[in-house]
Amino acid sequence: MARKPGSKEGRSVNAVLTDPAERFGLPMPFGWFAVARSEELATGEVKPIVLADEEFVLWRGEDGEVRGIDAYCRHLGAHLGYESRVIGNDLRCPFHHWMWKGDGGVASIPYQEKVPLKLSKACDRSLPIHEDMGIVFAWWHPQRVKPLFAMSRVEEVSEQGWIEADYREWIFDVHVQEITENGADVAHFPALHNFPSPPVPEFKVDGYFRYSSASSKMPTARGMVEGKIDVRAIGPGISFTRFWGITDMLMLQMQTPLNAWQTALRHIYFHPADLEDSKVNVTRKLIRNTAIQLEEDAKVWPHKRHLEKPLLVKNDGPILEYRRFYSRFYAQAE
Ligand code: FES
Ligand SMILES: [Fe+2]
Repeated sequence: MARKPGSKEGRSVNAVLTDPAERFGLPMPFGWFAVARSEELATGEVKPIVLADEEFVLWRGEDGEVRGIDAYCRHLGAHLGYESRVIGNDLRCPFHHWMWKGDGGVASIPYQEKVPLKLSKACDRSLPIHEDMGIVFAWWHPQRVKPLFAMSRVEEVSEQGWIEADYREWIFDVHVQEITENGADVAHFPALHNFPSPPVPEFKVDGYFRYSSASSKMPTARGMVEGKIDVRAIGPGISFTRFWGITDMLMLQMQTPLNAWQTALRHIYFHPADLEDSKVNVTRKLIRNTAIQLEEDAKVWPHKRHLEKPLLVKNDGPILEYRRFYSRFYAQAE
């Protein structure tokens, strides 16, 4: 389609377009990633998904369990996310009605009395699934290695009965690593987000988990209150941020790589069921502020490059520690 030079509609003819995947130049990390909300998959429902530049199909069987396998039927390549049908706990391909099990093996073939043993066996095109807190998580590894760490339970939600206050989701044109590098990049908070001073995070790594915390005085209707946040990250795709002091809130953040330059981000916010009204208002404000901050980050992300050797100074924050932690999720670096 022809565009007028300098036209405000569409891209300027002077824009230099580089391959976005090349600008980040990073592989896909292995780990647990959010792939759907539980409510998007009722019993008998099927959902095609994209995860780490691959296509899969999810379905919920009669027993209530979610299963996931490669989207393309290994028989003759039909996409199992469209016109397929859940029967019992298996998925029927629309093309020749082969029945697929959640472990990636074939349960039955309508025109073949016996399924050849080779086909009935579990195959590595099936996704390990874990469902909790209203989210379906899938384990992804480029070499199909089984889960190397477990998802842990979240006490506030599973034992203390905290309730969901809000849910939000976005797609950002940025590699998944950049989303959480943002938290370690302390100098951008005053510059881009207008913070009065940069947060001073402590940063601790324990195997596949990462912990950090930061505190600062925050003005509230009750005067200055010592606010504190603790972040616990499980692998490259999930983190829990607990807010103390100004309110009691837990933000479950889930970043899921769609491909080398696009990432789905989901947030669920929880608070105690009996949270006092003034704190509910603070919680709402924090949720709004988080969304505003993301919009500010999203002005930078789609145009940036990932620099392997950035020019850093002392007060830039724990960016390199963060990168060292993240790099352990790139399988070739193991
Ligand atoms: S392509 Fe799926 S059964 Fe033939
Ligand atoms: Fe930011």
